[in-house]
Order: sequence, then structure tokens, then C-alpha cells
Amino acid sequence: MDILYEIIKALWLLIPLYAANGFPVLVKGKVPIDFKKTWSDGKRIFGDGKTIEGFIIGILAGIFYGGILWILYPKFNSIAIYYGFELPYINPLNALILSFSALSGDLIGSFIKRRISLERGADAPILDQTNFILSATMIGLLFFKITVIMFLFMIIFTIIVHRITNIISYLIKLKSVPW
Ligand code: CTP
Ligand code: MG
Repeated sequence: MDILYEIIKALWLLIPLYAANGFPVLVKGKVPIDFKKTWSDGKRIFGDGKTIEGFIIGILAGIFYGGILWILYPKFNSIAIYYGFELPYINPLNALILSFSALSGDLIGSFIKRRISLERGADAPILDQTNFILSATMIGLLFFKITVIMFLFMIIFTIIVHRITNIISYLIKLKSVPW
């Protein structure tokens, strides 16, 4: 059962992270966060796929979902305590910090892609799907107990969810390729 509790704690943490990482994709902002500036290698710092609007919407979405989890916490955590574990105490403030870390990880991912000459939007399997979890976990460790099992679950679960959504998007013809 312990592993199930680790998974529930990880899913609780993933909610604000998915919000922060997912909402920017919906707004598709216009103002690039690097203001179209290039790095010393002549290539863009982050590229047109990372915008200020996206960053702000991501943070706001993370705070909003953090707020919902904060309201739900007493009820859900009392159930958890009944089973002998505790949920991570997410509130709007630490959700803001988590979202900021997640979006910064996403920026670092783009920074790396530009340095190895991958165009904006080019696929970088694993890196694309997990950069935000890596960075959010590093900062999240400051206020939450994130175990190795929770971390591994967040990474593997996210890769699987990403694969499944892409296959579904392909089947309903939203995407032309199933990856
Ligand atoms: N997006 C945004 N602002 C952000 C992050 C994402 O506006 N901070 C939007 C952009 O329209 C972006 C889309 O969400 O194209 C998908 O995000 P992502 O896959 O992370 O960016 P890519 O376009 O693939 O760019 P990169 O190659 O740099 O990852
Ligand atoms: Mg992409």
C-alpha cells in the first residue's frame, strides 16, 4: 500500500505543475521572453515558443490550482491521515514558487534545444516532457518531502500520459503523426 500512497502524493503535486506547464500552450503568446535576442552562438536564447504571456498564464494557472488544492486540503488530508500518510501541503504561495520553477525548467529545456541547434517546436523526446518536473522537484524539495518513488512516478507517468494524449490526438485527427 505504501507505494499507492506515494503515487497519490505525487499526483497531488502534479496538479499545479501540469497547470503551469499546460496553460501556456493554450494561449500561444506573442512576445518572446528572450525578445528575439540571440546567444553568443548566433542562435536564439529561447526561441519564439517561449512567450511572456505563456509564462504569466502558466504562473496564474499554477496559483489557481494551488488555491483549489489549498481549499481541498483539510478534507483530503484527513482522509490521508486516516490511512496513515500526509499529502503535500500545497497553497497558493508555494504553488506560485512551484509554477515558477516548472516554467523555468521549460525555459532551460528550450535553451538547451537552441544550443544543440534544434528549431523551435522540434521534438526532444524525454527532455520536452520532463524538464518542468525536474526543475520543480529541485525547488519543491525546499518545502515538500519528495521521495525518489514520487519523483520517478511523476516522470514516468508524465511520459506515458504524453504518449497517450498524442495517440488520441492522432486518432481523432488533431495531429498528423501519433508521436
Ligand atoms: N508557449 C508559450 N509560452 C511559454 C510556453 C509555451 O506561449 N512560456 C506556447 C507556444 O505557442 C509554444 C506552445 O505553447 O509553441 C508549445 O509549447 P512547447 O512545446 O513548450 O514549445 P515549442 O514551441 O515546442 O518550443 P521549444 O522547441 O522551445 O520547446
Ligand atoms: Mg514542443
